Amino acid sequence: MTAVQDALLVAGGLGTRMLPTSASVPKEALPLVDIPALLHLAREAVAAGAKRLHIISSPRKDLSALLGDHAWLLERRPELDPQMLSPFEDVEVHVHIQHEPLGLGNAIQCALEPISGPFLVLLGDNILLNEHTAPTSFTPSNASRQLVEHFNEHGLPCAGLLQVNPSDVSSYGVVRIEGHRILEICEKPAVQDAPSNLVMCGRYVFTSDAKSLLLTYDVETYGELQSIALQQHWMNNDGLHGVELSGYQWYDSGKPLPWLQAQVDHALRREDLREGFRSWLENRLADD
Ligand code: UTP
Repeated sequence: MTAVQDALLVAGGLGTRMLPTSASVPKEALPLVDIPALLHLAREAVAAGAKRLHIISSPRKDLSALLGDHAWLLERRPELDPQMLSPFEDVEVHVHIQHEPLGLGNAIQCALEPISGPFLVLLGDNILLNEHTAPTSFTPSNASRQLVEHFNEHGLPCAGLLQVNPSDVSSYGVVRIEGHRILEICEKPAVQDAPSNLVMCGRYVFTSDAKSLLLTYDVETYGELQSIALQQHWMNNDGLHGVELSGYQWYDSGKPLPWLQAQVDHALRREDLREGFRSWLENRLADD
């Protein structure tokens, strides 16, 4: 089976829900305390074995500071983990421009021309962490690696899944599974119509037939549901697997409240911040 060597970091959306900040700082470049989301994702993809990173950006976004040379940062802050700072150094980096934000399927299509094998997809505003480390001794997330290992074992496209509160399902792609096999995908269902509280959490391994299938399930017909149509095709044919990523915290920089919650949750779990932040927070809450 062909190895997963390409990873798509998808960052072509408008970030409307994070305006006005996202007009000047792409939400994919917003930090989790002090590490930009895109650095987390790039290190996660490299840790999963990616040799080529494809950044899908938009004409309005400037990600050059993130992708550029980080040597000067180490001169100023030599204690920072050089691998965390420079995930782009030992891999090929391709930047693809999605000219209009026509949805995930269309964003993926923008990058597929040079790709011939299976590939990872990481939503640029979704961080999944199983370890909470400082930028001085950084450990990348294992989420993409778990998906790649699953793909290597089964050879089928797969999607990362997490459980959410049943009352929150309407914001997500919700699935029904049997074993690993996804039997149903409901995009943003009403709470009472959701088949479960297991939802897709922004990590996928897709197979190379995505290139031709996305021409069949075209954006003109399927719009933002193009990527769902693609996955439903696999589901109804050779199979689409779900990989439960239990034990991960899921952080989203696409909306103000989840972004704020992410900062607080991560700080409370990070050894270098936990004590000072907790005592400040306890005092602050006692004042209310
Ligand atoms: P979202 O739907 O959360 O991002 O997509 P958005 O469209 O930017 O959000 P709003 O609705 O305007 O606030 C999740 C990820 O997929 C990327 C986004 O950049 C984000 O990282 N995306 C989304 C694309 O690359 N292209 C698109 O057309 C849509």
